Amino acid sequence: MEPEFDDPELTRAVAVLAQARRVCVLTGAGVSAESGVPTFRASDGLWEGHRIEDVATPSGFRKDPGLVWKFYNARRANVKAVSPNPGHHALRAMEDRWGGGFTLVTQNVDGLHKAAGSRNVLEIHGSLHRTRCLGCGEVQDRGLEPLADHPLCECGGRLRPDIVWFHESLPEDIWEQALRAADACNVLLVVGTSAVVHPAASLIPVAKRRSSWNNVRPGATVIEVNLTRTEASEYADVGLYGPSGRVLPELVDRLSS
Ligand code: APR
Repeated sequence: MEPEFDDPELTRAVAVLAQARRVCVLTGAGVSAESGVPTFRASDGLWEGHRIEDVATPSGFRKDPGLVWKFYNARRANVKAVSPNPGHHALRAMEDRWGGGFTLVTQNVDGLHKAAGSRNVLEIHGSLHRTRCLGCGEVQDRGLEPLADHPLCECGGRLRPDIVWFHESLPEDIWEQALRAADACNVLLVVGTSAVVHPAASLIPVAKRRSSWNNVRPGATVIEVNLTRTEASEYADVGLYGPSGRVLPELVDRLSS
Protein backbone atom coordinates (compact mmCIF):
# COMPACT_ATOMS: atom_id res chain seq x y z
CA MET A 1 0.00 0.00 0.00
CA GLU A 2 1.23 3.52 -0.86
CA PRO A 3 2.03 5.70 2.14
CA GLU A 4 -0.49 8.52 2.64
CA PHE A 5 2.28 10.94 3.53
CA ASP A 6 4.77 12.56 1.23
CA ASP A 7 7.80 10.34 0.75
CA PRO A 8 10.46 13.06 0.17
CA GLU A 9 9.28 14.65 3.41
CA LEU A 10 9.82 11.35 5.20
CA THR A 11 13.34 11.14 3.79
CA ARG A 12 14.03 14.67 5.06
CA ALA A 13 12.63 13.81 8.48
CA VAL A 14 14.87 10.74 8.72
CA ALA A 15 17.94 12.76 7.68
CA VAL A 16 17.25 15.44 10.27
CA LEU A 17 16.56 12.93 13.04
CA ALA A 18 19.66 10.90 12.21
CA GLN A 19 21.79 14.00 12.97
CA ALA A 20 19.95 15.02 16.15
CA ARG A 21 21.52 14.71 19.58
CA ARG A 22 18.44 15.82 21.51
CA VAL A 23 14.90 15.10 20.47
CA CYS A 24 11.77 16.48 22.09
CA VAL A 25 8.28 15.27 21.19
CA LEU A 26 5.01 17.08 21.86
CA THR A 27 1.98 14.82 21.54
CA GLY A 28 -1.75 15.48 21.60
CA ALA A 29 -4.95 13.50 21.39
CA GLY A 30 -4.30 12.43 17.77
CA VAL A 31 -1.57 10.00 18.83
CA SER A 32 -4.15 8.03 20.83
CA ALA A 33 -6.94 8.24 18.22
CA GLU A 34 -5.94 4.96 16.60
CA SER A 35 -6.18 3.28 20.02
CA GLY A 36 -9.84 4.32 20.19
CA VAL A 37 -9.55 7.39 22.42
CA PRO A 38 -11.61 10.26 21.00
CA THR A 39 -9.84 13.54 20.26
CA PHE A 40 -11.32 16.82 21.51
CA ARG A 41 -12.00 19.03 18.52
CA ALA A 42 -13.18 16.55 15.87
CA SER A 43 -16.86 16.66 14.89
CA ASP A 44 -17.44 13.55 17.03
CA GLY A 45 -14.80 14.69 19.56
CA LEU A 46 -14.99 14.94 23.34
CA TRP A 47 -15.99 18.60 23.34
CA GLU A 48 -18.90 17.89 21.00
CA GLY A 49 -21.92 17.51 23.26
CA HIS A 50 -20.07 18.86 26.31
CA ARG A 51 -19.58 22.44 27.32
CA ILE A 52 -15.95 22.93 28.34
CA GLU A 53 -17.14 25.29 31.12
CA ASP A 54 -19.28 22.48 32.60
CA VAL A 55 -16.77 19.61 32.65
CA ALA A 56 -13.28 21.07 32.37
CA THR A 57 -13.08 24.17 34.55
CA PRO A 58 -12.78 24.67 38.32
CA SER A 59 -16.10 26.57 38.33
CA GLY A 60 -17.84 23.69 36.52
CA PHE A 61 -16.57 21.32 39.21
CA ARG A 62 -17.77 23.63 41.99
CA LYS A 63 -21.19 23.84 40.35
CA ASP A 64 -21.71 20.14 39.64
CA PRO A 65 -18.92 17.77 40.75
CA GLY A 66 -21.13 14.75 40.00
CA LEU A 67 -21.43 15.73 36.33
CA VAL A 68 -17.67 16.29 36.10
CA TRP A 69 -16.91 12.93 37.69
CA LYS A 70 -19.40 11.23 35.35
CA PHE A 71 -17.51 12.71 32.39
CA TYR A 72 -14.10 11.69 33.76
CA ASN A 73 -15.26 8.25 34.87
CA ALA A 74 -16.52 7.64 31.33
CA ARG A 75 -13.12 8.74 29.96
CA ARG A 76 -11.35 6.50 32.49
CA ALA A 77 -13.51 3.52 31.47
CA ASN A 78 -12.76 4.22 27.79
CA VAL A 79 -9.01 4.33 28.39
CA LYS A 80 -9.12 1.18 30.57
CA ALA A 81 -10.50 -0.70 27.56
CA VAL A 82 -7.81 0.35 25.05
CA SER A 83 -4.11 -0.26 24.44
CA PRO A 84 -1.17 1.72 23.08
CA ASN A 85 -1.01 1.71 19.25
CA PRO A 86 2.02 1.46 16.92
CA GLY A 87 2.52 5.25 17.21
CA HIS A 88 3.03 5.00 20.98
CA HIS A 89 5.35 2.01 20.51
CA ALA A 90 7.40 3.86 17.89
CA LEU A 91 7.94 6.76 20.31
CA ARG A 92 9.10 4.26 22.92
CA ALA A 93 11.56 2.86 20.37
CA MET A 94 12.86 6.39 19.70
CA GLU A 95 13.58 6.80 23.40
CA ASP A 96 15.68 3.61 23.24
CA ARG A 97 17.75 5.28 20.51
CA TRP A 98 18.33 8.68 22.17
CA GLY A 99 18.13 7.65 25.84
CA GLY A 100 18.57 10.70 28.09
CA GLY A 101 18.52 12.97 25.03
CA PHE A 102 14.85 12.17 24.44
CA THR A 103 11.92 13.86 26.17
CA LEU A 104 8.28 13.13 25.49
CA VAL A 105 5.96 15.97 26.47
CA THR A 106 2.32 14.97 26.27
CA GLN A 107 -0.93 16.88 26.60
CA ASN A 108 -2.69 13.52 26.89
CA VAL A 109 -4.02 12.34 30.23
CA ASP A 110 -4.63 8.73 29.13
CA GLY A 111 -1.30 7.24 30.31
CA LEU A 112 -0.84 5.34 27.02
CA HIS A 113 2.74 6.55 26.48
CA LYS A 114 3.74 5.09 29.85
CA ALA A 115 1.74 1.93 29.08
CA ALA A 116 3.83 1.58 25.90
CA GLY A 117 7.00 1.73 28.02
CA SER A 118 8.06 5.36 27.47
CA ARG A 119 9.98 6.51 30.54
CA ASN A 120 10.86 10.18 30.21
CA VAL A 121 7.26 11.36 29.87
CA LEU A 122 6.11 14.80 31.02
CA GLU A 123 2.33 14.77 31.46
CA ILE A 124 1.76 18.51 31.38
CA HIS A 125 -2.05 18.26 31.60
CA GLY A 126 -2.14 15.67 34.40
CA SER A 127 -3.44 12.10 34.36
CA LEU A 128 -6.78 10.28 34.40
CA HIS A 129 -5.09 7.78 36.71
CA ARG A 130 -4.71 10.22 39.56
CA THR A 131 -7.00 12.01 42.01
CA ARG A 132 -6.21 15.09 44.10
CA CYS A 133 -7.87 15.91 47.42
CA LEU A 134 -9.25 19.43 47.71
CA GLY A 135 -8.90 19.10 51.50
CA CYS A 136 -5.45 17.69 52.31
CA GLY A 137 -3.98 18.05 48.79
CA GLU A 138 -2.88 14.40 48.57
CA VAL A 139 -2.39 13.08 45.04
CA GLN A 140 -3.08 9.36 44.61
CA ASP A 141 -2.65 6.98 41.70
CA ARG A 142 -5.94 5.08 41.50
CA GLY A 143 -5.28 3.39 38.17
CA LEU A 144 -8.41 3.27 36.06
CA GLU A 145 -10.71 1.46 38.48
CA PRO A 146 -14.22 2.93 38.58
CA LEU A 147 -14.74 5.70 41.14
CA ALA A 148 -17.95 7.00 42.69
CA ASP A 149 -19.68 10.06 41.23
CA HIS A 150 -18.73 11.97 44.42
CA PRO A 151 -15.47 10.31 45.55
CA LEU A 152 -14.08 11.37 48.92
CA CYS A 153 -10.58 11.24 50.41
CA GLU A 154 -9.82 9.38 53.63
CA CYS A 155 -9.53 12.83 55.26
CA GLY A 156 -13.15 13.51 54.28
CA GLY A 157 -12.18 16.05 51.61
CA ARG A 158 -13.64 16.02 48.11
CA LEU A 159 -11.51 14.38 45.39
CA ARG A 160 -11.07 15.87 41.94
CA PRO A 161 -9.34 14.44 38.87
CA ASP A 162 -5.63 15.40 38.85
CA ILE A 163 -6.12 17.04 35.46
CA VAL A 164 -5.24 20.58 34.41
CA TRP A 165 -8.50 22.30 33.52
CA PHE A 166 -9.06 25.45 31.50
CA HIS A 167 -8.19 28.59 33.54
CA GLU A 168 -5.67 26.57 35.60
CA SER A 169 -1.87 26.69 35.62
CA LEU A 170 0.28 23.80 34.53
CA PRO A 171 2.27 21.96 37.24
CA GLU A 172 5.28 24.26 37.57
CA ASP A 173 8.11 21.74 37.84
CA ILE A 174 6.85 19.61 34.94
CA TRP A 175 6.28 22.66 32.75
CA GLU A 176 9.81 23.90 33.54
CA GLN A 177 11.22 20.54 32.44
CA ALA A 178 9.16 20.69 29.24
CA LEU A 179 10.42 24.19 28.47
CA ARG A 180 14.01 23.09 29.06
CA ALA A 181 13.59 20.06 26.76
CA ALA A 182 12.02 22.18 23.99
CA ASP A 183 14.71 24.80 24.42
CA ALA A 184 17.57 22.30 24.23
CA CYS A 185 16.37 19.98 21.46
CA ASN A 186 17.70 19.80 17.91
CA VAL A 187 14.44 18.34 16.65
CA LEU A 188 10.91 18.89 17.92
CA LEU A 189 8.43 16.30 16.74
CA VAL A 190 4.86 17.61 17.02
CA VAL A 191 2.41 14.71 16.84
CA GLY A 192 -1.39 14.65 16.71
CA THR A 193 -2.16 18.03 18.23
CA SER A 194 -4.22 20.91 16.87
CA ALA A 195 -1.71 23.16 18.70
CA VAL A 196 -4.41 25.62 19.75
CA VAL A 197 -4.12 25.21 23.53
CA HIS A 198 -1.52 27.30 25.33
CA PRO A 199 0.90 27.23 26.97
CA ALA A 200 1.43 23.67 25.58
CA ALA A 201 1.55 24.91 21.98
CA SER A 202 4.07 27.61 22.87
CA LEU A 203 6.71 24.87 23.18
CA ILE A 204 6.80 24.95 19.37
CA PRO A 205 8.03 28.59 19.02
CA VAL A 206 10.29 28.01 22.02
CA ALA A 207 12.01 25.10 20.23
CA LYS A 208 12.08 27.08 17.02
CA ARG A 209 13.53 30.11 18.89
CA ARG A 210 10.80 32.37 17.65
CA SER A 211 10.11 33.27 21.26
CA SER A 212 12.07 35.39 23.68
CA TRP A 213 12.81 32.40 25.94
CA ASN A 214 16.42 32.06 24.79
CA ASN A 215 18.08 33.23 21.61
CA VAL A 216 21.59 31.91 22.06
CA ARG A 217 21.60 28.65 20.07
CA PRO A 218 20.09 27.97 16.63
CA GLY A 219 16.50 26.81 16.64
CA ALA A 220 15.31 23.23 16.39
CA THR A 221 13.96 21.65 13.24
CA VAL A 222 10.23 21.11 13.68
CA ILE A 223 8.62 17.99 12.21
CA GLU A 224 4.83 17.83 12.27
CA VAL A 225 2.96 14.52 12.16
CA ASN A 226 -0.78 14.95 11.78
CA LEU A 227 -3.69 14.00 9.55
CA THR A 228 -4.00 17.65 8.50
CA ARG A 229 -2.19 20.95 8.68
CA THR A 230 -2.65 22.76 12.00
CA GLU A 231 -1.62 25.87 13.90
CA ALA A 232 1.78 24.15 14.24
CA SER A 233 2.27 23.94 10.47
CA GLU A 234 3.59 27.49 10.11
CA TYR A 235 6.56 26.44 12.27
CA ALA A 236 7.04 23.03 10.62
CA ASP A 237 10.15 22.50 8.51
CA VAL A 238 8.94 19.02 7.60
CA GLY A 239 5.30 17.90 7.40
CA LEU A 240 4.29 14.25 7.54
CA TYR A 241 0.56 14.22 6.92
CA GLY A 242 -0.87 10.80 7.69
CA PRO A 243 -1.95 8.72 10.70
CA SER A 244 0.70 8.74 13.43
CA GLY A 245 0.24 4.99 13.91
CA ARG A 246 1.67 4.54 10.42
CA VAL A 247 4.02 7.50 10.07
CA LEU A 248 5.94 7.05 13.33
CA PRO A 249 6.73 3.31 12.88
CA GLU A 250 7.85 4.11 9.32
CA LEU A 251 10.19 6.79 10.69
CA VAL A 252 11.63 4.37 13.25
CA ASP A 253 12.10 1.64 10.63
CA ARG A 254 13.94 3.98 8.28
CA LEU A 255 16.07 5.34 11.11
CA SER A 256 17.25 1.89 12.09
CA SER A 257 17.90 0.66 8.55
N1 APR B 1 -2.75 10.65 13.51
C1 APR B 1 -2.24 11.91 13.61
N2 APR B 1 -2.98 12.97 13.98
C2 APR B 1 -4.28 12.76 14.23
C3 APR B 1 -4.87 11.48 14.17
C4 APR B 1 -4.04 10.39 13.77
N3 APR B 1 -4.50 9.16 13.68
N4 APR B 1 -6.19 11.60 14.49
C5 APR B 1 -6.40 12.90 14.76
N5 APR B 1 -5.26 13.61 14.60
C6 APR B 1 -5.03 15.04 14.85
C7 APR B 1 -6.14 15.96 14.40
O1 APR B 1 -6.00 16.31 13.04
C8 APR B 1 -5.95 17.16 15.33
O2 APR B 1 -5.05 18.09 14.77
O3 APR B 1 -4.94 15.22 16.24
C9 APR B 1 -5.30 16.55 16.57
C10 APR B 1 -6.21 16.51 17.80
O4 APR B 1 -6.48 17.82 18.19
P1 APR B 1 -7.37 18.16 19.48
O5 APR B 1 -8.61 17.34 19.47
O6 APR B 1 -7.51 19.63 19.55
O7 APR B 1 -6.48 17.61 20.70
P2 APR B 1 -5.21 18.27 21.41
O8 APR B 1 -4.42 19.09 20.45
O9 APR B 1 -4.52 17.19 22.14
O10 APR B 1 -5.90 19.24 22.47
C11 APR B 1 -5.07 19.96 23.36
O11 APR B 1 -6.93 20.77 24.59
O12 APR B 1 -9.00 20.11 25.20
C12 APR B 1 -7.74 20.40 25.70
O13 APR B 1 -6.58 19.66 27.57
C13 APR B 1 -7.12 19.21 26.36
O14 APR B 1 -4.92 18.28 26.12
C14 APR B 1 -6.03 18.79 25.41
C15 APR B 1 -5.69 20.09 24.70
